[in-house]
Amino acid sequence: MLAAAGGTGLLAATAVPAKAATTRRARAAAGDGTPEQIHLTWGEDPTNSLVVSWASPGQAVRARVRIGQRVIPAEARPYTDGISGEPVWTYHAQVGGLRPGATYAYAVTADNDANAADPFSATFRTAPVGRVPFRFTSFGDLATPNTEWVLSYGQSAYAVAAVESFQPLFHLLNGDLCYADLNPTVQPAVWRDFGNNNQASAANRPWMPCPGNHEIEFGNGPQGFTSYLTRYTLPDNQVPGFAGRWYSFRVGSVLFVSLDADDVVYQDAGAFVAGPAALTPAASTGNPPIQPGTSFYIRGYSGGAQTAWLERTLEAGRGDESVDWVIVQMHQCAASSSATGNGSDLGIREEWLPLFDRYQVDLVLGGHDHDYERSFPVRGADADVGTEAATGAMVNTLRPHPVTTTDGGVFDTSQGTVHLILGCGGTDTNLDDYGTDTADGLRQAKVFTRADRPALTSAPDVYARAAADAVEDAIWSARRDTSTGYGIAVFDVDPEPEGSGGHTSITVTHYHAVGADPVNPATGAKGAPTPDYIEFETFTLVRPRSS
Ligand SMILES: [Fe+2]
Repeated sequence: MLAAAGGTGLLAATAVPAKAATTRRARAAAGDGTPEQIHLTWGEDPTNSLVVSWASPGQAVRARVRIGQRVIPAEARPYTDGISGEPVWTYHAQVGGLRPGATYAYAVTADNDANAADPFSATFRTAPVGRVPFRFTSFGDLATPNTEWVLSYGQSAYAVAAVESFQPLFHLLNGDLCYADLNPTVQPAVWRDFGNNNQASAANRPWMPCPGNHEIEFGNGPQGFTSYLTRYTLPDNQVPGFAGRWYSFRVGSVLFVSLDADDVVYQDAGAFVAGPAALTPAASTGNPPIQPGTSFYIRGYSGGAQTAWLERTLEAGRGDESVDWVIVQMHQCAASSSATGNGSDLGIREEWLPLFDRYQVDLVLGGHDHDYERSFPVRGADADVGTEAATGAMVNTLRPHPVTTTDGGVFDTSQGTVHLILGCGGTDTNLDDYGTDTADGLRQAKVFTRADRPALTSAPDVYARAAADAVEDAIWSARRDTSTGYGIAVFDVDPEPEGSGGHTSITVTHYHAVGADPVNPATGAKGAPTPDYIEFETFTLVRPRSS
């Protein structure tokens, strides 16, 4: 199996005398240990630590990172894909003891690195200390540029280039990374294309992800996250059994909180076998066929542990005078009015919005719907304003209550939380088609208020999951981009703007890729991937400094 993973001239180079122990070692070395899919994440403290992660086609021998005179051995974290049976080799080097706000060059290699003479190298920058300005960027739903794969699209490469063009300190990748679950028999190949596409930016600056529904894969761990968790080393949440699913980190005066909304959403959108055929894993896996109608539904998997951690984390953050801002990253949406997308989910509104209110979360960054939408600042909920889609009966959707509906360009987020839908990375399915209530002309959102478990359709052995079961007038919706489903949000944190009188600010600019929609829903215009990102809108968030 190891030898099958990819042989090169390295085989000859690593041949050794046929003693028992060294023969075993030679066999282990028989793979191709050339680093690929190289990407960075923050360590426990972004001012002084960072993790270099990568994969190689075969098992790497003495995988390591070099920084100056230091050689840091990598931890090997292999796994076997539960459907294809393919072995995957990943490596993680924890780099500590760095200086704040400093730039470092590093190289990644192994004894059986085909590029050992001139190994992959790049530079990164650590986070600065204190109330200092910095920039980060964000989108979700990236996919890969390899259009052989379901939901992949060429915009994915331009999106990565867009991150580089803005030179952020780091990037937030809001879930649904590559849709490997929709290409179930070739999951590792899809992840490989994703990792190699991202490397153009993620090897230069941390890309901090959260899991989306498409990170849930059959045969890969209790929540299906093995592919995701094996590739990323993320800050420790100290919750036994749930490492990597959610975490927080600090940069400057901002506390970033990354959540796994799969744990609380009602919608059922993980791996799914629609049928009529079963999904049959490779015999080597020993895994049985997965029957039509099977979905991997993980709502509630943490048994409340994530929400308890969230409350502790928010309470500690708001109790810390050096924290001004709290920014949450999660994949699914509490406030989205996409008509062709998923819409909003009552699960997030029930579990987490009250905590966002209590601890004055400033900003929530999501994905899931492949578009751009911004809410007004919201606090509290309007009860009994939703309508069951099937019957017209009243249903409580806990509609987020806007504290203003004046789109003035400056919002005090100590008064309410702004939600941004940024599912505008690079998939081939743009969802920039938004709901309108035909009765009153107001914006309308679909809302999941219960699980849409698979149901048999009229075709034999074919199952489907229904769309959201309720609607509401989306009075919280401030801005929707109807011209394209693709873009990138750029955030400039200015902790002490001049003449601000004790306020701190974040300027948000959304750039969009006009013409990238395969088909624009508003005009019917057919488009194609484009490298051109132009400004769509800019606005400013302000709040009083906490000290
Ligand atoms: Fe999603």
